[in-house]
Amino acid sequence: MARVIAIDGPSGAGKSSVSRRVGERLGFLHVDSGALYRIMTWQCLENGVDTSLSDAVAAFAEKVKIECVPEAGRIQYLVKGEEPGDRIRTPEINAHASPVATVKAVRDRVTAILRSLVAFGDLVVEGRDITTAVFPDSPARFYLTASADVRAARRQKEEVEKGIADQSAEAVKASLLARDKIDSSRKYAPLRKADGAVEIDSSNLTLDQVVETVIAALPPDWRGES
Ligand code: DC
Repeated sequence: MARVIAIDGPSGAGKSSVSRRVGERLGFLHVDSGALYRIMTWQCLENGVDTSLSDAVAAFAEKVKIECVPEAGRIQYLVKGEEPGDRIRTPEINAHASPVATVKAVRDRVTAILRSLVAFGDLVVEGRDITTAVFPDSPARFYLTASADVRAARRQKEEVEKGIADQSAEAVKASLLARDKIDSSRKYAPLRKADGAVEIDSSNLTLDQVVETVIAALPPDWRGES
């Protein structure tokens, strides 16, 4: 049976960097579940589906074709044979992704895709509902968080480095808090700390320290020890 490390938390908590590093250390494939919600959102926008109409989004969600391929330590997603890349990382997608992710049919579709990935081997899966809804039985569940100011500063730095956005720190923080609010108050699989998940506040920790904390909390045989 494939092993799954599940990591949830709000935007900018450091989930992607931590999951990638933990995956590299242990040889588990990194799975970015947020990218699937972003792909759904991008495809809605590309095809003129109004993301505020949940029935339209639900009907369209069934039609989006996403191919999942294990590649260089992660699961790569292909739409019509191509990786979406930074096309799913724009402020426009940021603004539309949370409402799209409230639609049950979208969540069901993404959850089914994520569960099917265990066929490829051991996984580190990051998202908002991985510890509570997608893999709630995993013995390795983490809730990663950080203060809103630290999270906004990280997101802004990432966006500037990618050259895909030019928003003030205040604008980045406002958009992040707006998404947090939708993600944690939605009806289906809201973001919350699962009972029994290990909570890590990364506000004052380096990436290495967070990675070590995660690895130290894993079942001993998952760390290559017995
Ligand atoms: O982690 P991210 O910013 O790439 O996520 C994009 C959006 O998808 C975000 O608004 C929350 C949503 N999401 C979700 O609802 N459940 C997940 N497991 C992952 C992301």
